[in-house]
Amino acid sequence: MSSYTARDVQEGRAPLPVGARTDRWWVEPLLVVGTLVAFSVYAMWRAFEGDYYDGLQALQHGASQAPLYLSPFYSPPVHEWFPDFQGRFMVSPAFFVLVFPLSFRATCYYCRRSYYRAFFWDPPACGMPEPSMTHRKRYTGESAWPFLLQNLHRYALYAILIVVAFHYKHLYDACFMMKDGVRHFGIGLGTIIMALDAVLLSLYVFSCHSWRHLIGGGLNKLSAAPVRNRIWRAVSSLNARHGLYFWLSLITVGAADLYVRLIAAGAFSDPRIL
Ligand code: FES
Repeated sequence: MSSYTARDVQEGRAPLPVGARTDRWWVEPLLVVGTLVAFSVYAMWRAFEGDYYDGLQALQHGASQAPLYLSPFYSPPVHEWFPDFQGRFMVSPAFFVLVFPLSFRATCYYCRRSYYRAFFWDPPACGMPEPSMTHRKRYTGESAWPFLLQNLHRYALYAILIVVAFHYKHLYDACFMMKDGVRHFGIGLGTIIMALDAVLLSLYVFSCHSWRHLIGGGLNKLSAAPVRNRIWRAVSSLNARHGLYFWLSLITVGAADLYVRLIAAGAFSDPRIL
C-alpha cells in the first residue's frame, strides 16, 4: 500500500503510477546490468587466470620482439615486488590489485545511483514506483550495514590516486620493446590503447565528487583561495561528465587488459607505429 498522500501526488512527490512512463526507461537499467555483469565476469576470470599479463611473454611464443606492456589489472606490479605472491597467498596478485579500483568504482556516487536502480529497482528509473513500499519503510539509506561502507569512498579515492600514477608509469614503459635482449624505443597499437586507458581513468578519477570536495571543500570562502578556486572550477566542469567517464574508462581498462592478454598469449603481433 502506498504511503503517499493525495497531496504528495498533487505536488509531484509521489511516483507515477505503473505504466505511466511510456518511453524506453528500461534501456538504461538493462545496459547497466549487462555491462557491469559482463565486466565483473571478465575481471574475475582474468584474476583467476593469473597469467598473460606481461607483453614480454610474446617472446615465449616465437615473436622476435615484444612490447613492454603490462595489463592494468596487474598494476601496481605486486607480482614483481613479491615474486612468490601466488605461491604464498594461493591467489593471483590481480586480486590484490583489483580490490582498489573495484572498491573505488563500487562506492562511486554515480555508480551507486546506476546499480541501485538497475539491480535493486530502488527505484528503477525517475518517476517510477519501487516494487515494494514495505521495503521502502525499512530503508536506512547508507547509515546501516552493509551500505555504511559506501561512506569509505574518499579513502578509496586516496588509493586510486596511486593506481593512476602507476598507469602512467606503465604507459611510459609501453613506449619501449625488447628486441635481441635490448630495450628499444617503439610505439605500438597497444601503446595507444594504454594511453587511452590512462587518460580516461584520469578523467574519471579527477571528475570524482570526493576529489572535487578535496579541492574546494573545507573553505569558508572559495574566492579567497584563487588557485584552488580555479582548479575546483576545472574539476566541476569535468564532474558534469563523470558518468560518461565512468563507462568509457571501464571499457578501456577492460580493452587494455584484453589486448595485453592477446599479445602475451601470442594470438597476434602488436602492430608497430614507430
Ligand atoms: Fe564517482 Fe567518486 S563519485 S568516483
